[in-house]
Amino acid sequence: MIDKFTTDRKAKLILDGKTIELPIVEGSEGEKAIDIRRLRAETGYITIDSGYMNTGSCASDITFLDGEKGVLQYRGYAIEDLAANCSFIEVAYLLIHGRLPNRDELRNFSELLGLFALIHEDMVHFFDRFPAGASPMSILSSMVNCLCNFYPEMNENPMGNIDMMAARLLSKVRTIAAFSYKKSLGSPLVYPRHDLSYCANFLNMMFDSPVKPYEINATLVRALNQLLILHGDHEQNCSTATVRMVGSAKVNLYASISAGINALWGPLHGGANQAVMEMLEEIHASGGNYRKYIERAKDPNDPFRLVGFGHRVYKTFDPRSRIIKKACDDVLEAMGINSDPLLELAKEIEEVVLRDDYFVERNLYPNVDFYSGIIYRAMGIPVNMFTVMFALGRLPGWIAHWIEMWNDPNGRISRPRQVYVGPKRRKFVPLGER
Ligand code: CMC
Repeated sequence: MIDKFTTDRKAKLILDGKTIELPIVEGSEGEKAIDIRRLRAETGYITIDSGYMNTGSCASDITFLDGEKGVLQYRGYAIEDLAANCSFIEVAYLLIHGRLPNRDELRNFSELLGLFALIHEDMVHFFDRFPAGASPMSILSSMVNCLCNFYPEMNENPMGNIDMMAARLLSKVRTIAAFSYKKSLGSPLVYPRHDLSYCANFLNMMFDSPVKPYEINATLVRALNQLLILHGDHEQNCSTATVRMVGSAKVNLYASISAGINALWGPLHGGANQAVMEMLEEIHASGGNYRKYIERAKDPNDPFRLVGFGHRVYKTFDPRSRIIKKACDDVLEAMGINSDPLLELAKEIEEVVLRDDYFVERNLYPNVDFYSGIIYRAMGIPVNMFTVMFALGRLPGWIAHWIEMWNDPNGRISRPRQVYVGPKRRKFVPLGER
């Protein structure tokens, strides 16, 4: 795809007295890049970019984000418009197909989600074999990985029926997530219902019980839709880049997404939503002196970081965090919670941090994870399931990227290079002489 965006302009690099011309690529929103694909072949040099701070691994037409201006768009639509007007399933369709569905397409896709919501009964027994207290993220990634054994047809012709492939994953991952929660409680499983929407179905599977029927609350369903939409995609973040990298070896979609789930688990990435809640709980339990924690976060000799702040790409407000902060108030009101001490604490921390020179100089603003946990908690979702919720939301983005990667005519197996700094060739010493 990248070749379509190569301009006539060239960058000049002078190396060892020789001038090398490198093509300049320009994206549809004016993002500029220097194409170095031929650099090593022509000069023997590679580029070094630890953490890929400055490396474009592909061209993509899925998500645009401008970290300086705080802009996020899926397939050209502003995140604010999508969160205010769409269901998560419409947005999933948009991410995967590149356009919003019409009524018929949405109905058909929703039908498929209903049809594929069950998981093979043999898989249900797997849950019994995880030890008590097993992390729901490890359960999720294991279960998703083994879907390829139960639904192998997708391995043979992955692009044969994209709707079926996407609906299967979206629907089954939701069921696996809810079942893993019920199993962790030792409660009977609640099976998916065909008459419920995607998010209502999930909440019902999580909270319905034979002894206490769950009443579906429209405000919570709306908030969950919003949260999942906001997490839908975020271009080349760590987990999505992982899905693309693993998939570039031509491994099946399930295994690629299972790898993405594991990347998301980390506290610097999706695991931050759980870490934020644990941090707020700890600050609250220790008397609410958050200033002490802010000071610790600023101390270069202390590894502690104020979780929920900072972002590799955003150097201003994360547009998702603004929407989530507003949704917090709606959800708490719907749940009849007059005030939540952790929400108050979070708001106070944000206010202080935004005026603190350390955070201002480094452009550290609240990110998507800072407020999302407060909503999940109010919905009754346990803290150790927060990152699973992130995974549910990110799933359409992972699927869309995997499809894009698979179909990219410029696609190659991902294989970064390195600069070797170990010992030079040494004389081998046999075991008896060492
Ligand atoms: N608290 C205190 N200092 C921070 C923080 C923080 N949360 N985040 C960054 N810094 C400092 C960091 O110490 C460094 O300071 P200095 O220049 O003096 O060495 C500077 O800001 C730049 O940070 P960095 O680690 O080089 O930036 P990065 O782009 O490599 O890391 C990040 C981005 C998100 C991993 C990081 O900001 C962080 O650890 N934040 C806390 C974890 C978090 O909230 N993660 C969720 C990210 S959003 C959702 C997602 O991606 O899944």
